[in-house]
Amino acid sequence: MKFEFYNPTRLIFGAGTLSRLGEAAREHGRKALLVTGGGSVKRTGVFDRAVTSLEKAGVSVVECAGIEPNPRITSVRRGADMARREGCDLVVALGGGSTMDAAKVIAAAVFYEGDPWDMIGHGQENWVLPTRALPIITVPTLAATGSEMNCGAVISNDEVKVKSFVKADCLFPRVALADPELTLTVPRDQTAYGVCDIITHVTEGYFNGVDGTPIQDRFAEGVILTAMEYGRRAVADGGDLEARTQVQWASIVALNGWVQAGVDAVHPVHMIEHALSAHHDVPHGAGLAVVNPAWMRFAAKARPQRFAQFARRVFGLQADGRGDLELAMEGIDRFEAFLRSIGCPTRLSELGIGDELIPRYAEDAALVLRDEHGNLLGRPPMSKADIEAVLRSAL
Ligand code: NZQ
Ligand code: ZN
Repeated sequence: MKFEFYNPTRLIFGAGTLSRLGEAAREHGRKALLVTGGGSVKRTGVFDRAVTSLEKAGVSVVECAGIEPNPRITSVRRGADMARREGCDLVVALGGGSTMDAAKVIAAAVFYEGDPWDMIGHGQENWVLPTRALPIITVPTLAATGSEMNCGAVISNDEVKVKSFVKADCLFPRVALADPELTLTVPRDQTAYGVCDIITHVTEGYFNGVDGTPIQDRFAEGVILTAMEYGRRAVADGGDLEARTQVQWASIVALNGWVQAGVDAVHPVHMIEHALSAHHDVPHGAGLAVVNPAWMRFAAKARPQRFAQFARRVFGLQADGRGDLELAMEGIDRFEAFLRSIGCPTRLSELGIGDELIPRYAEDAALVLRDEHGNLLGRPPMSKADIEAVLRSAL
């Protein structure tokens, strides 16, 4: 096991911490581009509270509203123009993963003279690694992506029908201010999708990582068990602050790099979901709920021991004379049943997706599931035909 861990984001966590936004922002700038989504923060009053806190601390605000779920590169271009024109020296994201991701790329695009789309498509030909960005502060209102404390951003481009990502050190937020009270208003379906996203962030490493990572395995199982227990509660009662708090913390831990350290994971489930989202604009967590169990059934055959471990440790299943693969399959069935119990879709048809474009999704995902030498990635490695088969099994 070999790794380097770096995460410079200061995390301010807990109910009521929104009032500290101004104080936190003031250390990094005086004029904030406040990036928001489609209006939820206005309806909940969170926007006014954020602006009050910022202005009280002497930080003036320019709003960049209207970031869409599955944020588009067009919004990033608009935000970067606005930040430049207004002379903003700080970017504050107030919203879900989409808003945070757009805000991050806006912060970098301010210093980039070309088209911000050049920065998306990690590792692709002609890809431009962002090296400089305005200071970023994230204030999540939805627990799911972990974007608040990582250096990634996922952006969609409708013109070319691609959803892809960028990861760069300059995109680490200076401060993540996570106040679980802000998530109390997240609707039931988005809450469930968020729980699925959190769990999938750690299952990617758990099943795709190298062997010999016992601590990371236990971290991942802790995240899964916590997200399941408190996620169930948050879905049943959106006003349960304790449940919202634990789910929020799980979302951060799941993708701030800690669980991933040393596992050398690829993310086939995410890459396949991104291909679906690029064509159908589905909510990220809902797409994952469809792809993940289908992918697991494919991968379990190659690594039954890992999946049997998951069945035993997460669902408390016993072998009772059965082999690893049989146990593994029951664990996957239980996982899928959990997703359904909280209201996630688990079939493509529930997302309104048929089989017509399956070869295209598979082609898109296969492009990013291979290294620079063309070797297939994943454990087991996935060919285009494998991806197609996984998707067909989820129809
Ligand atoms: O846009 P508004 O009006 O704010 O409404 C949003 C949106 O409709 C609503 N919402 C958010 N907070 C709310 C709320 N409604 C009521 N009360 C609140 N407190 O929820 C809807 C979904 O929001 P969105 O930001 O799209 O959801 P999520 O946080 O799941 O983000 C999804 C995006 O993040 C990317 C996904 O691909 C997708 O584009 N990801 C980013 C990652 C990262 N940066 O590390 C990793 C993830 O794997 C993921 O790929
Ligand atoms: Zn995700």
